[in-house]
Amino acid sequence: MGDPTDLKSVKSSAIVIPDDFRPYPPGSFCLPSFYAKDVESVLIPEGLLRDRIKALAREIHAKYASTDEEPAPLVLVCVLKSSFKFFCALQLELELLNTEQSQLIAPPVSGAPYHNNGGQGNGTAIPSAGARLLPLLCEFIRVKSYVNTNSATENEVKIQGLADPVEAFAQKDVLIVEDIIDSGRTMQALLRNLQQYNMKSVRVVSMLWKRLIQGNSVSSFRPHFHGFEIPDRFVIGFGMDYNERYRDLNHLCIINAAGIARYATNQP
Ligand code: HPA
Ligand code: MG
Repeated sequence: MGDPTDLKSVKSSAIVIPDDFRPYPPGSFCLPSFYAKDVESVLIPEGLLRDRIKALAREIHAKYASTDEEPAPLVLVCVLKSSFKFFCALQLELELLNTEQSQLIAPPVSGAPYHNNGGQGNGTAIPSAGARLLPLLCEFIRVKSYVNTNSATENEVKIQGLADPVEAFAQKDVLIVEDIIDSGRTMQALLRNLQQYNMKSVRVVSMLWKRLIQGNSVSSFRPHFHGFEIPDRFVIGFGMDYNERYRDLNHLCIINAAGIARYATNQP
């Protein structure tokens, strides 16, 4: 397997939101009243997020699906907590692509009640002609970063939540599902950690890629697939939090000073 962090050749269909983009006024949208006063603006309305996720699912399906009789599964890895909503939306779209390409289970023999058809209606779903299919496996992890005293410059991570990582990853195609990548240091450390599991391949899909400008260059690890490239603003909603709040805000929004003050915490 090549270096999964070398993404120079990756071409992206992401929607790029430029720095001078004027986000939408919150008063034009349906927001929960208990959050509305904490929202400066709506950056990406929920409908646009979901539409783009549908397109991302098609990109991913096209990359991995096969016409084999027993297609190899793709392991979707949800990085908790913030990516749970993106993960659910993406997983559903990928699941729908498989069901759309499979024919109905054979109907029961004529006249027989459906529950008593001699087994003929059971388990006989067949793929449509030329169907490309992609079975999915789902894993849920939390990633804790720390600076290893032996390598003071590079972050390292611990992966939590897997009973048997070898069983989960070895010889499999693995797709890490993230909500946002900004510096990308944690993701690069996660990819380095995963190398030990001898995967068939490993890639990253992120709903958002934050453009961090340092000097004249954009400094960030770039995911293999991403939904939107966004300006360097702090965003909340669609699973993403500020001190654990706002995950249940439907649109992706920019938080205002009142929200930052309301839920500020002294904890590290
Ligand atoms: N919002 C929430 N969590 C984050 C962000 C953000 O903008 N960037 C990195 N983690
Ligand atoms: Mg995340």
